[in-house]
Amino acid sequence: MVKTSKGLRVGEKRGHQPGETLRVLIAEARLKERVKEVAREIRRDFPKDTIHLIGVLKGSIFFLADLARELGGEVSFDFLGVSSYGKGSDSTGEVKLTKDLDVTIEGKTVLVVEDILDTGLTLKYLLKLFEERKPKHLRVAVLLDKVGRRIADVRADYVGFAIPNEFVVGYGLDYAERYRNLGDVCSLRIASAGKKAE
Ligand code: IMP
Repeated sequence: MVKTSKGLRVGEKRGHQPGETLRVLIAEARLKERVKEVAREIRRDFPKDTIHLIGVLKGSIFFLADLARELGGEVSFDFLGVSSYGKGSDSTGEVKLTKDLDVTIEGKTVLVVEDILDTGLTLKYLLKLFEERKPKHLRVAVLLDKVGRRIADVRADYVGFAIPNEFVVGYGLDYAERYRNLGDVCSLRIASAGKKAE
């Protein structure tokens, strides 16, 4: 493997903590471009509706903010918080609601906005919860889709990028609450563990 004089792999830069290295997977300019395309696609499907965006905290905040501005027309927001337990192939699939919505979604054109679709267990839980509340339309937009990691049988209606099974940070996504404010989506490697964060 080719390494630089600083002991990093080619294309990597140091992270904020010792042993953490970052490699740009999707650059800021490409994210902007793609969010614009996704917004156009959504607006084409619902040209006249007020689109009620539901952001899943906290990873979706930048995606939601950029998407909302690109959508044009009428848009409203709400946010909800979830935490997941025991993720991975041995997952119990337990997802807990930590913050519910502020307003009703009954009769609305709802777009769930998620940062990343991984096992799909969170989205499966959310779709069941929202379907019971009788929206007029219920759609899902995810920025990133780790297709190969899926456990639950769910899919997003709008996908920014399909990505490989790498742990990613930036543009809202975190590792231990850090790196959310990076402009690019980066792949994170933890040297002490000898492999990427999981
Ligand atoms: P799922 O229920 O496994 O689909 O998990 C979705 C949630 O897991 C996302 O909303 C993220 O909070 C988190 N997650 C999954 N993969 C990553 C990643 O690569 N980086 C940061 N967070 C991730």
